[in-house]
Amino acid sequence: MKLLRGGRLVRSDGIEPADLLMEGETIKAIGKIDQPGAEVIDVSGKLIFPGFIDPHTHLEMSGGCDDFHTATKGAIMGGTTMVIDYATQSSGGLVEAFHLWQAMAQKSCCDYLFHMSPIRKDKQLAEEMFWLQERGISSYKLYLAYDDLRMNETDFVETLKALDVIGAFVGVHCEDGDRIKQLQQEALERGEIEPLSHALTRPPETESRAIDYLMNRAEGCINIVHLSSKDGLERVRYYKQQGKDIVAETCPQYLLLDRSLLDQSREEAVKFIFSPPLRTADHRDALWQGIADGVITTIATDHCNCSQASKINNYTDFSRVLNGIPGVETRVHLMLSEFDKRGLGYAKAVELLSTAVAKQYGLYPQKGELAVGSDADLVIYDPTVEWTIKQELMSTPGDYTPYEGWNITGKIAQVYLRGQLAVDNEKWLGSLGRFQTARRTHDNS
Ligand code: URP
Ligand code: ZN
Ligand code: ZN
Repeated sequence: MKLLRGGRLVRSDGIEPADLLMEGETIKAIGKIDQPGAEVIDVSGKLIFPGFIDPHTHLEMSGGCDDFHTATKGAIMGGTTMVIDYATQSSGGLVEAFHLWQAMAQKSCCDYLFHMSPIRKDKQLAEEMFWLQERGISSYKLYLAYDDLRMNETDFVETLKALDVIGAFVGVHCEDGDRIKQLQQEALERGEIEPLSHALTRPPETESRAIDYLMNRAEGCINIVHLSSKDGLERVRYYKQQGKDIVAETCPQYLLLDRSLLDQSREEAVKFIFSPPLRTADHRDALWQGIADGVITTIATDHCNCSQASKINNYTDFSRVLNGIPGVETRVHLMLSEFDKRGLGYAKAVELLSTAVAKQYGLYPQKGELAVGSDADLVIYDPTVEWTIKQELMSTPGDYTPYEGWNITGKIAQVYLRGQLAVDNEKWLGSLGRFQTARRTHDNS
């Protein structure tokens, strides 16, 4: 047994000074503990968080520069003890995609689960969804942009219906694909090829229009993933007020960065090409308000580790650049530091980066909580250390971080994965993750 003595436990509802006893993979006791024979670890002055969960990653992505092993090593070094990765259908069925993802994830350094992402309404889709549900898969993602990923309207509506039948949690990429295509074509005809046009051809109204399109057809519980704009946020607020079953996720990039980063030299600007794109600073401020008033419930990364080299080599125009940025290693530090700086507090950060995620995906209270019986996924954090994010400090492969030079207050000292010390003072100790099944019901969130 291991006894963490003298720390302060941070839960979504507040901070409590308490000792924490682990036995095997779980939390055995919390309070004032004296346990003869236990290994006592002094964590005085430190905060103890439940392991953080990143519910939106694209690891081992085609064109990307990481794999399940290297990306999740970065994840756990950065305090993320579980990822929920997007298993995207290709030429075969969804079950085939599930098996492929299971094989890739064997080498994961943190716990994992998948969302399935169907790109067609195959005739066996409903049957496959039941099969997947029995194996613990209960969340999906559908796209309204990208020609190779989005469905036609009939298939989209039928798939939403089928997902509602199984009570799935449906994440939707909300960008109006047709409008974006038209704007891109017009921009290219005018000779506008630089990275800024990536954002100009995907304006905020393409997000809000897609949310309207979706909500006019939606059945069941909807998650607007990677919400990026004030316009989109207002539509989510509106549908919530109408009593619709809708939640929203955003990402650090939309909370910390802005569109001016696309308006610099091509070599620099390509680093910030992802979709939905960066917005002007007023959108960023609106999203923080959406967090404060509870319209946004989770913060994920949308981690797609495309290198700068792969984005700039053979550049022809903005529309052909690989979309995506690395983020799985930096999310927790960035957000803890920023929530503290903005006076939102660490407890609120725990809610959006761990507890609410676990609840929405049917993992709670095994994950996302510091309670007796929960998995001993723990992040031990020194809130006083000042440091600066640099690519050379990152464990995740790649040639840049979008947050180069960001000053952070607070640093992870240790990470425990189900009771095992996985990271100790920036050293990964060889942890291996495990597939986790979701037990989601309609009233989870
Ligand atoms: O630019 C990004 N994030 N591409 C990844 C796919 C997606 O939309 O989540
Ligand atoms: Zn997306
Ligand atoms: Zn994504």
